[in-house]
Amino acid sequence: MKTVGFFNNKGGVGKTTLVYHVAWMLGLLGQRVLAVDLDPQANLTSMFLPEERLEAIWEQTPRPTLHGAVAPQFRGVGDIAVAAIEPVHERVGLLAGDLELARFEDQLALAWPSAGDGDERAFRVLSAFARVIAEAGAAFEADLALVDVGPNLGALNRAALLACDHIVVPLGADLFSLQGLRNMGPTLRDWREGWARRREKNPDPGLALPAGTIAPIGYVVMRHSVLAGRPARAFSKWIARIPGQYRHFMLNQPATEETETSADPNQIARLKDYRSLMPLAQEARKPMFLLRPADGAFGGHQAAVTACHEDFAALAGEIAGRVAAG
Ligand SMILES: Nc1ncnc2c1ncn2[C@@H]1O[C@H](COP(=O)(O)OP(=O)(O)OP(=O)(O)O)[C@@H](O)[C@H]1O
Ligand SMILES: [Mg+2]
Repeated sequence: MKTVGFFNNKGGVGKTTLVYHVAWMLGLLGQRVLAVDLDPQANLTSMFLPEERLEAIWEQTPRPTLHGAVAPQFRGVGDIAVAAIEPVHERVGLLAGDLELARFEDQLALAWPSAGDGDERAFRVLSAFARVIAEAGAAFEADLALVDVGPNLGALNRAALLACDHIVVPLGADLFSLQGLRNMGPTLRDWREGWARRREKNPDPGLALPAGTIAPIGYVVMRHSVLAGRPARAFSKWIARIPGQYRHFMLNQPATEETETSADPNQIARLKDYRSLMPLAQEARKPMFLLRPADGAFGGHQAAVTACHEDFAALAGEIAGRVAAG
């Protein structure tokens, strides 16, 4: 199984929307997928599960969420537990998110320097998410795990992203997204290198540590939100800067001349603003590309649904191809 994170430390760029739709689409295309919600805001989980189910799982002890699986490790009362996998589709399972995950931020921050000193427990804590994902992925016989995280460069995200072999970077064509690349690229390098140095100090060879490659496989331009109502000129101005800035900050390669992203091999896709399909999808609790007239998607909406299906089939296929290519 390969694990792919969707990450940009700029908020609201469409990470969760992408993970949800790509997980569904890969499942429909025949792959086995584990969707993993490591954002304590648990937006991905609330897209997948109805409110009654959310209430039921958040009321149990231990909770059948990611928190329940890692809690014994963080509390120092045992190792990670077997994670509960919420069924979504015959080939798609969910490791549910949990607001309580935010409580582990401090411990994860402290474990980072301690691992540098070869502290065994620090390695167990830092690798807890990765180990839960690997075990759940094996149990589900998943081909891919897709990980959603919150928009920050904190210790929780560091541990979440260390579990990832690859990352996809969703971004908007705007100043904030480009600033995001500027922070994210060097931070990810720092995490990768810091983890590689620490791994050598791991005192327990029996502990399955993640490789922490976090290799960027490309970006997806999301043309919604901040751009709504702004002139196309603003979009073109920023979009021309993406290829060069992505190469420079994410890949540490010389920046290229300004170009169209469509000519850039690092662009996985450019997604449009699906406008009213998104609220209809949320209401119907299904992906935009599966909306039917009975869900309110009648008339012109059906053409938009078909186009959306084509967009996501291409995007999901491209992600799977890039992951398989290594
Ligand atoms: N292609 C799209 N078309 C229309 N609406 C979209 C699209 N992508 C995302 N949205 C909407 O934009 C908002 C932000 O998206 P989303 O929650 O996926 O972003 P995020 O990056 O996960 O945010 P956060 O950083 O808060 O986790 C949501 O209301 C979502 O429905
Ligand atoms: Mg999100």
